[in-house]
Amino acid sequence: MCGIVGYVGKQKAATLIIEGLKRLEYRGYDSAGVAVWQNGHIEVAKKTGRVANLEKEAARHKLTGTTGIGHTRWATHGGVTDANAHPHVSSDGRIALIHNGVIENYASMKKFLAGKGYTFASETDTEVLCNLIAYHYAKEPEVAGENRLLDSVRKTLRHAHGTYGIVVLAVDRPGELVTARKGSPLILGIGDGENLVASDVAAIVSRTQSVVYLKDGEIALLTAGSFSISTLDETDVTPVIDKVTWSISDAEKGDYAHFMEKEIFEQPVALENAMRGRFSEDGSTAQFGGLNITPAEFRQIERFMFCACGTALHACMVTEHQIERFARMPVECDYASEFRYRNSPLFPNTLFFVMSQSGETIDTLAALREAKRKGYKVLAVNNVVGSTIAREADGGIYQHVGPEVGVASTKAFTSQLLIGAMLALYIGRMRDLSFGAGVRMVNALKGAPDLVRKALEQAPHIRAIAKRYAHHTDMLFLGRLSLYPIALEGALKLKEISYIHAEGYPAAEMKHGPIALVSEKCPSVFLAPQGEIFSKILSSMQEIKARKGPIIAVVTEGTELPAGLADEIITIPACEEIVLPIVASIPVQLLSYYIAVERGCDVDKPRNLAKSVTVE
Ligand code: F6R
Repeated sequence: MCGIVGYVGKQKAATLIIEGLKRLEYRGYDSAGVAVWQNGHIEVAKKTGRVANLEKEAARHKLTGTTGIGHTRWATHGGVTDANAHPHVSSDGRIALIHNGVIENYASMKKFLAGKGYTFASETDTEVLCNLIAYHYAKEPEVAGENRLLDSVRKTLRHAHGTYGIVVLAVDRPGELVTARKGSPLILGIGDGENLVASDVAAIVSRTQSVVYLKDGEIALLTAGSFSISTLDETDVTPVIDKVTWSISDAEKGDYAHFMEKEIFEQPVALENAMRGRFSEDGSTAQFGGLNITPAEFRQIERFMFCACGTALHACMVTEHQIERFARMPVECDYASEFRYRNSPLFPNTLFFVMSQSGETIDTLAALREAKRKGYKVLAVNNVVGSTIAREADGGIYQHVGPEVGVASTKAFTSQLLIGAMLALYIGRMRDLSFGAGVRMVNALKGAPDLVRKALEQAPHIRAIAKRYAHHTDMLFLGRLSLYPIALEGALKLKEISYIHAEGYPAAEMKHGPIALVSEKCPSVFLAPQGEIFSKILSSMQEIKARKGPIIAVVTEGTELPAGLADEIITIPACEEIVLPIVASIPVQLLSYYIAVERGCDVDKPRNLAKSVTVE
């Protein structure tokens, strides 16, 4: 959730760290801070609010040192104050620390440290951890051939319960950083005469594309010219250096007003990337390289279980519908956060899937671990290469859509829908889906990017509608079958970026309660494409209209609605059922985006949210 950057090299650390923090701001934006070693002491600048505030504060501190650490915070322990911002410095002034995660036993540590005379300026668990490192550091003897800072951090972490990604700087060790992780991502950037550490590749990709993904339980020592990795129990680790495949321009807004806008309009290309090389030569099915499960094993599977959070769960719900419809196999879907504690009975021969853009969502990771603990094979649909979920899953499918920076997920969502549809096709073709039906579905999926391009052409029209509806305080999103999860997604998008209260419902379910909300003040967005139950959706619209509810109808091009039924009409191109959820997502994304812009909301950094939720 929080963003972490550390630098050791020859350049001004604060400048590079603040540049990195700006790229990580989507991870948390309650406060930001930087600590730099210079002239024999640790100089700290920190400020509540955005990184821009920190930049001004840092200028006052004249930070010239070449070793430093920086952080953007998403508050967990303690309110949003300058004192609670990271980095924290131990009360003896010797250790500075940044931390992502939660230390569960911080209260007992604090009591112990208070008894030893340590004092605390903040309410955070991080400051307690920092002081415990300082305590061990003060006690640890200097032994030739050993690193005292590394040993003190190891000792401290052996006592820490919870999750952490940390970077430590010591006042008497200029040119050194110690970093360690458990449950929070950390990546080392291996540069030329400089080394970096960050919670996300986006913060370091402008300096180097050579990275090492640190694993849980590992600790690293960085200097300008070297890095070494070991475990908490002092076993040396041979690092694997990976190359990042995307460049800095992928993580920049370019000419777009917001990352969310850029990512919405990137979707045709994102879909092309997500499907590239994934159709069989005979053009009748999908193929995936990384499933790590043979077709023979796959045929033994009798049901599927999907777990995820938020938008990714909505993608799972569409996938559930499509696997059941096209592959005729039972699927269950659950919130990852519920699954992990529910102890629900699982059937044998169940294949478990998790979906996660970031691959770091703690609830999804916990669901994966729980399923593995119960002996199930778990596959992951995931965007961020090398993420914890990607590493811990038994196999999976990368989304390949590049970095998604906007907090509200868009291109990651539609690529999850695409992969879900391809899975339905793949499984269906192993069962009773015919060659001809498979070819038709492959062609439909290959056509998805162009259909999305067409749907995006409605943007100016949707923007005009958004202007007329932006003042509302409540909205309903209604859809059926595979578009019911798209209605949920539309409501989620709208509430998270515009703060309008919105609910998604299956259209026909609306009359069992939510219809009580309907009035001229509560518009309904109907997802009403042509199809088997179009006439039923029209009936639901009539019920809303009879109660004076304004209607925004998303319909297939060429549809003639009864006069006066809809107040606004948005069209989507006619398409096969398998791609319909992808195409129908575009108008709800655009509507939410333009409403939020109209209301003057900070679209890319909505209040209280952060891009990847690595705490419970
Ligand atoms: C909403 C949104 C969130 C995420 C959820 C899971 O726009 O982005 O609901 O979908 O936090 O995140 P990942 O997919 O990274 O596991």
